Amino acid sequence: MNEKIERLKQLVRESDNIVFFGGAGVSTESGIPDFRSVDGLYHQQWKYPPETILSHSFFARDPEEYYRFHRAKLVIEGVKPNRAHLRLAELEREGKLKAVITQNIDGLHQAAGSKHVLELHGSILRAYCSKCRKPFPADVINYGQGVPRCDCGGVIRPDIVLYEEPLDEDILHQAISYIRRADVLIIGGTSLNVYPAAGLINYYRGNKLVLVNLSETPYDSYADLVIHEKIGEVFDQI
Ligand code: OAD
Repeated sequence: MNEKIERLKQLVRESDNIVFFGGAGVSTESGIPDFRSVDGLYHQQWKYPPETILSHSFFARDPEEYYRFHRAKLVIEGVKPNRAHLRLAELEREGKLKAVITQNIDGLHQAAGSKHVLELHGSILRAYCSKCRKPFPADVINYGQGVPRCDCGGVIRPDIVLYEEPLDEDILHQAISYIRRADVLIIGGTSLNVYPAAGLINYYRGNKLVLVNLSETPYDSYADLVIHEKIGEVFDQI
């Protein structure tokens, strides 16, 4: 085990107030591509840029095309939590980890057994009517055809935060509160490029900020420990 992972292991061993904040890189080892890596979603060819399709105005204008993209690219069959998700759930059970804050919409932290998960960008596993807000099982959209509609005539939409939409304030405040009080903050698998989520890092007041990310991030110089390795492999050793 290298020195940096040994140091992370020690920080984890000595703390009972760890908070984890993660992004798409946490799920790549489960077979879900991230957004900004060379083989990520934003580098794949599509009729419109994915950032455009995944926006509120595009969804309102062309839900048909949105759903073509959603079913082809966001719904991925048979994915399972990897070693990072599983170890985080274990740390929660051990009373060491207080919360997982995630930008991911795949539900894999809950599948791994984590109970306290704050989903900043919602979940692909939930849906609701955009008109009357009645909840629907996500299968209605993920495995349906065309644009799914509610009895009231409204378009059923996934419970995810699209571009141009605000984050849920309650979830955001809870995330800020956990980060403010955290002893150790581990940030992993995120390029820290998308706001307001990336700005959460600024609420941390401690001196044990750990970044575990394959590539560099704009916050590397702020961190007390930076590990440029695969997060599943790192968490397997701590
Ligand atoms: P990105 O694709 O921007 O960043 C993922 C980061 O994870 C990259 O810096 C990779 O180097 C790193 N990475 C990939 N695999 C890894 C692994 N196995 N171990 C460690 N690091 C790894 O994804 P996010 O930062 O999550 O928002 O993107 C944030 C938001 O942008 C998403 O939630 C989504 C997107 O637009 C919305 O849809 C609103």
